[in-house]
Amino acid sequence: AFRVKLASTGQIVEVGAHQTVVESLAAAGVVVPTSCEQGVCGTCLTRVIAGRPDHRDMYLTDEEREANDQFLPCCSRACTPELVIDL
Ligand code: FES
Repeated sequence: AFRVKLASTGQIVEVGAHQTVVESLAAAGVVVPTSCEQGVCGTCLTRVIAGRPDHRDMYLTDEEREANDQFLPCCSRACTPELVIDL
């Protein structure tokens, strides 16, 4: 498990082992637009301000992953205990 912090409000949302970031955010009342929910379409693309995403998508290029500044929260997770995201 890890947590995401919303940069705009400071709200912290815990992401359980069996939940996606999108599901955890929705349960906290924060809706991220999604379409495929499988890391293919890029609809849910969200900027990352701090922390390191664990990319599980098939959308970003290797260069984009290495830039460490965006992720696909419908399927990707975190390598660090916290991700600060631009929401
Ligand atoms: Fe398609 Fe996340 S909803 S990549």
